[in-house]
Amino acid sequence: MSALRTAGDVSLTNLTLSSSEYARICVILYDVAGIKLNDGKEGLVVSRLGKRIRELGVSSFTAYVARIEEDPSEMREMIDRLTTNKTSFFRESAHFEFLRTKALPSWGDREVTIWSAGCSSGEEPYTIATILCDAARGGAANGRILATDLSHRVLAKAKEGVYAAETVKDIPAQTLARHFDRRRDGTTDTWVAKQHLRDLIKFGKLNLMEEWPMRGPFDAIFCRNVMIYFDRETQERLVQRFSRLLAPDGFLFVGHSETLHSMKHDLRYVAPAAYAKAAQ
Ligand SMILES: C[S@@+](CC[C@H](N)C(=O)[O-])C[C@H]1O[C@@H](n2cnc3c(N)ncnc32)[C@H](O)[C@@H]1O
Repeated sequence: MSALRTAGDVSLTNLTLSSSEYARICVILYDVAGIKLNDGKEGLVVSRLGKRIRELGVSSFTAYVARIEEDPSEMREMIDRLTTNKTSFFRESAHFEFLRTKALPSWGDREVTIWSAGCSSGEEPYTIATILCDAARGGAANGRILATDLSHRVLAKAKEGVYAAETVKDIPAQTLARHFDRRRDGTTDTWVAKQHLRDLIKFGKLNLMEEWPMRGPFDAIFCRNVMIYFDRETQERLVQRFSRLLAPDGFLFVGHSETLHSMKHDLRYVAPAAYAKAAQ
């Protein structure tokens, strides 16, 4: 289904999004999730929410906005549908190489705690788990991973830990064989995260804009390709909050298209999109 643009409004067969309805949805998305939609994203809103509006049998975007304002569960559903969840195993792989060759050796024998903030469907925390397991060389992995996201839809997928053959293509063959089981069922070919990986990860729902129940400290925080949807002020506040939760020799990893340049923070650049908390 493609959204059609007509003088100021965007339509999807009989469903029109006016500029004031679009503005209202943008304000709600920003207030609740910190996500800033730029101008020109009206088509995205229409295509992602149009289907939901039809499912509910609601007559217009105005009626839908009224509905989300009085129904917290529909508000969550809307936010969920407007988030972008693109991810992959070993995405921006230099970070995992850094974790394996620099960060883990620098922490010695202590049990490490890592947070994947904005973990989407789980590829990022499972990738981290493979690194922790492989570093243990057959012994018990010496670490724990907290993996959080705002979207219940992607979290359900992450907890399931079942991935299509196409999705695991970025995992090196031997790593895949060590940590995933192949499941062939008729025409479907999937890979399932083994129990020893799952045991390392605790998944939970967390909106980064709200209070965080965790005290830390974390040895590493991965918040990659999440802040790109936030404005500069929100990004800076978030980076300062992450920094307060980092161990004295901890690291913050952000997406490669994200930068902490010209923000106020007490972190030190150590590698592309990787920052260290200065040891006290
Ligand atoms: C593009 S994915 C990035 C996934 C992974 N970190 C990576 O780099 O591959 C961004 C994720 O951030 C989540 N997200 C967006 N706003 C959020 C918020 N306010 N609190 C928590 N998660 C949020 C989205 O639900 C989405 O799953």
